[in-house]
Amino acid sequence: MIAPSILSADFARLADEAAAVAGSDWLHVDVMDAHFVPNLTLGLPVVQSLLKATDIPLDCHLMIDNPGRWAPPYAEAGAHNVTFHAEATDDPIAVARDIRAAGAKAGLSVKPGTPIEPYLEILKEFDTLLVMSVEPGFGGQSFMPEVLSKAAAVRKLVDSGELTLLVEIDGGINVDTVEAAAEAGVDCFVAGSAVYGAADPAAAVRGLRAQAAAASPHLTIVQ
Ligand code: DX5
Ligand code: ZN
Repeated sequence: MIAPSILSADFARLADEAAAVAGSDWLHVDVMDAHFVPNLTLGLPVVQSLLKATDIPLDCHLMIDNPGRWAPPYAEAGAHNVTFHAEATDDPIAVARDIRAAGAKAGLSVKPGTPIEPYLEILKEFDTLLVMSVEPGFGGQSFMPEVLSKAAAVRKLVDSGELTLLVEIDGGINVDTVEAAAEAGVDCFVAGSAVYGAADPAAAVRGLRAQAAAASPHLTIVQ
């Protein structure tokens, strides 16, 4: 699955930018509060407008403090996926349950320096694990391959049937890095600058999907 990140899109033309990636699996929406990360982007009103402007399921990545207070409204608004950061709360299970109760899939995200082991036990409360492969806050940064061991560890638990969730990766995904991530067992690839920096964003999505599928060890490609 490919999830273009609108962080690299033209914020004055978000409906058109969503249409430009028609055929994407999810549209990744980076919500930043200038507290959890040193950048400020958009919030619930923009997500509510985007929901009316596109049929692509919205994958909301909340890089914010206090997700217990702010995450459920994104689910209530109709986001497909609401992902918050493990580092931002002491009670990730409660936040996940509130998101699911409000009708969305729940995602847990970890920064590059955050180990996954302390969270393995609670991943059954989640639908998605979002492994950050750059420091959250900005698009266009370089991929950090050292985070792939986290994706591979969780992939193993999924393959053995101990867990049911999608492994997502976010940051620095492009034609040079997507295959390594796919080989580690990633299911869903967020790509901002690689998609919106391309002359044809929809073609960039198709290209990344084909590259990822060809490199995915756990995927049976049905022709
Ligand atoms: C960074 C965001 C990413 C960002 C990725 O904090 O979470 O979603 O848009 O951008 P690229 O693909 O350019 O690294
Ligand atoms: Zn993101």
